[in-house]
Amino acid sequence: MKKILITGGTGYIGSHTALNLLQRGYDVLIIDSNINSSQKVISNINFILKKLDLDLIGNLIFNKGDIRDYFFIENIFKNCIENNSPINAVIHFAGLKSVAESKIKPLNYWDVNVAGTINLLKIMEKYNCKNLIFSSSACVYGEKNKPPFKESLMPRPVNPYAKSKLCVETILEDFIKSNKNNWRIINLRYFNPIGSHHSGLLGEDPLNIPNNIFPLILNAYINKEKLFIFGNDWPTKDGTCIRDYIHVEDVVEGHIKALESNLKFGFYSFNLGTGQGTSVLELIKTFEKVNNIKIKYKFSKRRDGDTAILIADNSLAKKKLNWYPQKDLCQMCKDGFNWITKNPNGYN
Ligand SMILES: NC(=O)c1ccc[n+]([C@@H]2O[C@H](COP(=O)([O-])OP(=O)(O)OC[C@H]3O[C@@H](n4cnc5c(N)ncnc54)[C@H](O)[C@@H]3O)[C@@H](O)[C@H]2O)c1
Repeated sequence: MKKILITGGTGYIGSHTALNLLQRGYDVLIIDSNINSSQKVISNINFILKKLDLDLIGNLIFNKGDIRDYFFIENIFKNCIENNSPINAVIHFAGLKSVAESKIKPLNYWDVNVAGTINLLKIMEKYNCKNLIFSSSACVYGEKNKPPFKESLMPRPVNPYAKSKLCVETILEDFIKSNKNNWRIINLRYFNPIGSHHSGLLGEDPLNIPNNIFPLILNAYINKEKLFIFGNDWPTKDGTCIRDYIHVEDVVEGHIKALESNLKFGFYSFNLGTGQGTSVLELIKTFEKVNNIKIKYKFSKRRDGDTAILIADNSLAKKKLNWYPQKDLCQMCKDGFNWITKNPNGYN
């Protein structure tokens, strides 16, 4: 049985990943400060697992704490070794992710995203855990590159959040170059994960004002508020930004494929996106149609730090990880709607 440490495991993508790994029989250890998530995720995961008729379910342990706290993290690694159950791999989701907030509080972003990762790496090295999957973002590509984006493009991030992600990627690459002793680091660049677990028991529940379009749509629907669309003068077919939306469960599947792949030691980057571009207006129309509802919206100014078009070239992940996204935009919109209607106040 393998033990996987998930940092940020009560967050949106981390919680869906933890559930999937447990269903496959992995033992899962979650670390999260809950700065942007709820501990109720843990009971919901356990509730879903109880209802499943599975022979083998892994153990789930939650530890509340901060990835920047050396002694807290070290203790976890040490205890696992002392109990003859060392951590085999780390999936590192913990981080701050709001582009808008990163412009107001850049130091927080460099501290949590960059210093937090360095802290984790030092401890992994000390305790001989040499298998890491890192959550990066499509926003490292920036606006000067032409979509669809291939991993080999020169990144050109335009905001502190994206810069902090690129900085971690650079550190990881340097680290691998200096450390040829059996480390494997897989860097996954997510495009726009949306949707929720089909049970409606796990979903995205940002504790601050949401920054991404999908939670903004869900909020507008549930609170009967007008949705502000940032810009209708982008150089796109309908003037709104184009994104590559991907179901969160397909993103999770990308992590499983990465974890279980037979890639050798080294540093690898893969895009996780569908390769399909959808404008904000198209997303809203699909959401309305599949759920038979209406969203009121209004255009406002462009948001500083946004880019017009982000679309993945996902051929490398298909080829090397045998990863093929399965769920279409309609399913993403249905599952997101299911989550918000069952949990109008999120996890509260
Ligand atoms: N959701 C997206 O659209 C998206 C896109 C690209 C990349 N990513 C990256 O994927 C990762 C997960 O994203 P998510 O959408 O699940 O975000 P999320 O905010 O839901 O999850 C991140 C988790 O990390 C925790 N956390 C934050 N700072 C911490 C710290 N110092 N110590 C311990 N825990 C801490 C938060 O409480 C939260 O539970 C993030 O690193 C994010 O940057 C997300």
